[in-house]
Amino acid sequence: MEKLGKLIYSGKAKSVYEYKDEDKVVVSFRDDITAGDGEKKDSLSKKGYYNTLISTKLFEILEENGIATQLVKLIDSSSMVSKKLEMIPLEVIARNLATGSLIRRFPFEEKTPFNPPIIQFDFKNDEFHDPMLNDDIAIALKIATKEDLAEIREITLKINEVLSKFLDENGILLVDFKLEFGKDNNGNIILGDEISPDTCRFWDNKTHETLDKDLFRKGEGDVMSAYHEIFNRIISNEDIKRWSIDSN
Ligand code: TMP
Ligand code: ASP
Repeated sequence: MEKLGKLIYSGKAKSVYEYKDEDKVVVSFRDDITAGDGEKKDSLSKKGYYNTLISTKLFEILEENGIATQLVKLIDSSSMVSKKLEMIPLEVIARNLATGSLIRRFPFEEKTPFNPPIIQFDFKNDEFHDPMLNDDIAIALKIATKEDLAEIREITLKINEVLSKFLDENGILLVDFKLEFGKDNNGNIILGDEISPDTCRFWDNKTHETLDKDLFRKGEGDVMSAYHEIFNRIISNEDIKRWSIDSN
């Protein structure tokens, strides 16, 4: 395991450290899990491991499909060397089926399919409880330009297409998910953060069993068995060998 550099930032489930190259950082996934703006908290053994490897695998699939992500390389089973990005404080949500906050706020029947998917922008700000916003509000807040928002929307639709197909082939229905983007030194919009059971609704594509953080949010079932199941369905022994990390 490489020694981590100076801590730059610590979020609710990940920490960011300096790396020897100035244009990169190390994103380290912890076992912490929170819900409700951090009101409900726990630490679940192996969560950091599962989310690191699930995110890495999904970022690799996206890169293979021409989508730029922050991923540079794994350094161990909980740390990813990543491009240093200026993060845009938006939570970009794509929804293929109606559930979650959408059906609490709007009169959609649960599981209504959306084709094309709904793309929703929330302002990433705990103090204001991540309110939904529109292009005009984001532009007035100076967090993105009209062009940035259009590009983010296009990339999100492409990500949805690529991941829905890959996950479906592995028995997983991608119900909805949240992305975060940032800009590199050249102003390019790059996918950052993570794509994991913390940030997606993953359902078994036949039984519709929940295999994600909703189990924790609702206090139902064994959260880590669900993460383990997603891990098993999408990560092969070849992946583990290729990454040269412990199978844990
Ligand atoms: P929602 O239906 O609760 O708005 O969630 C939509 C998607 O966003 C779902 O896949 C879970 C994900 N999400 C996060 O990644 N972080 C959050 O803080 C919340 C509330 C949802
Ligand atoms: N991001 C929210 C929190 O940490 C959790 C969620 O995903 O619902 O509280």
